[in-house]
Amino acid sequence: MQIKKVGVLGCGLMGSGIAQVSATAGFDVTVLEVDEKFIEKGFAAIRRSLEKLAAKGLVTESTDAIYSRLRGTTRKQDLADCDFIVEAVIENLDEKRKMFASIDPIVKPAAIFASNTSSISITEIMTATARPGKFVGLHFFNPVPLMKLVEVARTIVTTDEAFEAACEFGKKLGKVPVRTTDKTGFIVNRLLVPYLMDAIRAFEEGVGSVADIDASMKLGCGYPMGPFTLLDFVGLDTTYYITHVMFDEFKEKRFASPSLLKRMVMAGWYGKKNGKGFYDWSNPEKPVPQDAALRGIAK
Ligand code: CAA
Repeated sequence: MQIKKVGVLGCGLMGSGIAQVSATAGFDVTVLEVDEKFIEKGFAAIRRSLEKLAAKGLVTESTDAIYSRLRGTTRKQDLADCDFIVEAVIENLDEKRKMFASIDPIVKPAAIFASNTSSISITEIMTATARPGKFVGLHFFNPVPLMKLVEVARTIVTTDEAFEAACEFGKKLGKVPVRTTDKTGFIVNRLLVPYLMDAIRAFEEGVGSVADIDASMKLGCGYPMGPFTLLDFVGLDTTYYITHVMFDEFKEKRFASPSLLKRMVMAGWYGKKNGKGFYDWSNPEKPVPQDAALRGIAK
């Protein structure tokens, strides 16, 4: 099947990134949000990102040309003639099911639906629609314009045609698609989540400070970010939610949230996005480790 028009559901961090790489790849993109203000915020981030990439010669077309292929809307009817829909709304099963159920009767029957969920079962989201064969997982990584991977997940009812079309679509976006199945966490989070939870447990046990554990994995293993910087970057609320879904599926301690993570989320420390997590991000250029506060001792 030929994909020309792409619909993106949600214009947050992931949705705006997916819309950006789709428009950069030459697709006409319609982005659905509940309110104009979210479209404005997401599109401003896209423009900033495109300008950065253009300044480095990493995109061949002008920012204006790419930008002209993007359209924001709050009307679901505007998605009717999309060939491929990627959902990136809040990581919550009910919200995702509601969203897909509402657009399913509107979008043309030939279109393929994909969810960018990182942990929720694709099968469980898919059953909200009447097109189970044309439903896949398409999991991107943050920051979407820079990260090369996309996980493409099939369920037991995904057709070969839809799965191959999703892999091809990923390639057209300049990503490397890896093929996986609808198993909670797919490949990356199956390995990444236990590692991140272990880092928190190591900190809780006093193995090292936030900065030293981060430095260890950066300098000792060549990871681009240490585990606490990455946790703050992904979002502690998002990570906490993922641990619940994964623990519920596997019932294994390695996926369970340590109590410190739970308490940080309850206290409203979500990481870089709201300024406080394992680091204080008041100055994003100079994050300050929060060891004393996290250990409950005088600062
Ligand atoms: N668009 C354009 N440019 C961007 C950008 C974006 N969205 N985000 C960052 N950049 C730019 C930065 O501004 C910076 O530009 P300058 O050099 O001009 O200042 C440049 O990219 C490089 O950034 P950094 O200097 O911070 O250097 P870096 O080499 O560390 O690269 C990184 C940044 C690619 C994010 C790298 O740190 C990295 O790979 N980190 C790990 C990210 C990761 O693991 N992501 C996956 C998280 S898991 C997930 O997403 C899924 C899940 O289910 C939880």
